[in-house]
Amino acid sequence: MIYHVISAMQFDRSKLDDLFEEVRDMEGIVRKGRSTLLSGEIMACLFFEPSTRTRFSFESAMHRLGGRVISTDNASQFSSAIKGETLEDTIRVVASYVDVIVIRHNEIGSASRAAAVANVPILNAGDGAGEHPTQALLDIYTIYRELGNVEGITIAMIGDLAYGRTVHSLSYLLANYRDVRILFTGPPETPIPASITDYLTEKGVRFEYEPDLASAAKRADILYQTRVQKERFPSPEQYEKVRGLYLIDQEIVDLMQPHARILHPLPRAGEIAIAVDEDPKAAYFRQAENGVYVRMALLERCLRTN
Ligand code: CP
Repeated sequence: MIYHVISAMQFDRSKLDDLFEEVRDMEGIVRKGRSTLLSGEIMACLFFEPSTRTRFSFESAMHRLGGRVISTDNASQFSSAIKGETLEDTIRVVASYVDVIVIRHNEIGSASRAAAVANVPILNAGDGAGEHPTQALLDIYTIYRELGNVEGITIAMIGDLAYGRTVHSLSYLLANYRDVRILFTGPPETPIPASITDYLTEKGVRFEYEPDLASAAKRADILYQTRVQKERFPSPEQYEKVRGLYLIDQEIVDLMQPHARILHPLPRAGEIAIAVDEDPKAAYFRQAENGVYVRMALLERCLRTN
């Protein structure tokens, strides 16, 4: 069976625990130097939307494991998509050149469509406002590394809960852990989708709407800040209405519990003050680094379980 990573919903607790054990091993590999574990394998990065972290960390992960990479960072312009080629045709062809495909696309469901026609593993690196499962995996791993546990935590998801795909995937993953409480801290214009809250209800996860950032900061173990996804709004006016409503600055940091941490999938667009970066509670750059280790483990899974 091909090991695709399409949705965070495909991970149960035992798969997560196994994966994170391997991620720790990958940290060790990076500390010691390079590995040849994936020598001879080729990964394609097919990115129809911009990326810094996801694409570079996947590429770094593959290089660190001895594999090779072919990549397009602007596939909507520099692939035959611009000539009208369907996503399915592109995937069939690229799959015949490589051993694994990492895809980011602007349409919800695109990774699933790719997996339906691919004979190599597909890794969803973000499908529009849908999901970003590999980001959510590194988010959970970061929570483990920062707090020592995921069970029993209170996490505030802040900002654009409607279009922020990392929030969707992270909500799905959190449903695997006991006694988690999620605070949805965002404006009414960008609510968490009902599909997510329905899932949380079905899984018995406690969640509530806490629109006040100061209250959320006092209560949460993790503040998961997100960017307002300008590119997904139907009009600039609608974006302007919600831009800049939630800012984590020193005043907010001072309200947090001593052990609490700030995460952000990045990039940020002003929603965390730069002055906060040096505070030990600011874990977002460590979180971005964890992306390499998590993606190394995922690539190993994809390419060594076939
Ligand atoms: N977190 C994240 O997906 O970042 P990039 O858009 O830079 O890949």
